[in-house]
Amino acid sequence: MAILEIENLYAYYGMAESLHGVSLSLEEGQIVGVIGPNGAGKSTLLDSIMGLVKTKGSIRLAGREITGLQPAELVHGGIGYAPERAHLFPYMSVRDNLLVGAYTARNDIEKNLELVHNLFPVLRERWAQETATQSGGERQMVSLGRALMTSPKLLLVDEPTIGLAPKICVGIAEALVKLNRETGLTILIAEQNVSFAMQLASHIHVLESGSVAVDGPVDKLRADPELAKAYFGT
Ligand SMILES: Nc1ncnc2c1ncn2[C@@H]1O[C@H](COP(=O)(O)OP(=O)(O)O)[C@@H](O)[C@H]1O
Ligand SMILES: [Mg+2]
Repeated sequence: MAILEIENLYAYYGMAESLHGVSLSLEEGQIVGVIGPNGAGKSTLLDSIMGLVKTKGSIRLAGREITGLQPAELVHGGIGYAPERAHLFPYMSVRDNLLVGAYTARNDIEKNLELVHNLFPVLRERWAQETATQSGGERQMVSLGRALMTSPKLLLVDEPTIGLAPKICVGIAEALVKLNRETGLTILIAEQNVSFAMQLASHIHVLESGSVAVDGPVDKLRADPELAKAYFGT
């Protein structure tokens, strides 16, 4: 069953239209990537799903229309969000940042902390550290962890590799794949880092200036030399 169906979505910042009729759907258990250059509309798309931007069009979560719902209702409804640049509380500990995410899922705290610590063991060791003093990679782990503390059915991840060294990106990729394989969590990733997205996702949507230019299974896109050259640098 499709867990998320977006149909003909338009997004607006005041008078400016930033998404021009985007459609996309995610089956349960899939990892789907949205790639595109800076300003293409990736964050706007995720913010739109999260009820943070004014939109027109349809967004359905497990068949239910969710446009117009408040962000808190969407978190409660099963959407976890790790936004661009993490947005952590810098002078709070790793543990307290994680617990902020647990607000709507209090009964799952122990289970979710265990999941997050198994995925990112360094966070178990550094639980008392203020996130301001962490590395970029560890902050990204806290951000993903905080989103997981909401017990999501669908995880939205915005540019988890931004500013990170390639080796750290590999670690993040492995954690997301493990999470998907072991828990079946559905993941939508926005990325400028094409190779990172292609490594994880089974399906890719290429966003260009607020519209989907190309989409399809990664294998198929890779096999088309024109597309591969235009979008994937190979
Ligand atoms: N808060 C905002 N106010 C006005 N315009 C915005 C805002 N956020 C993004 N935009 C515009 O929307 C377009 C898409 O931006 P964004 O979704 O951030 O792209 P991406 O995440 O792919 O880099 C850009 O033209 C950007 O300038
Ligand atoms: Mg962005």
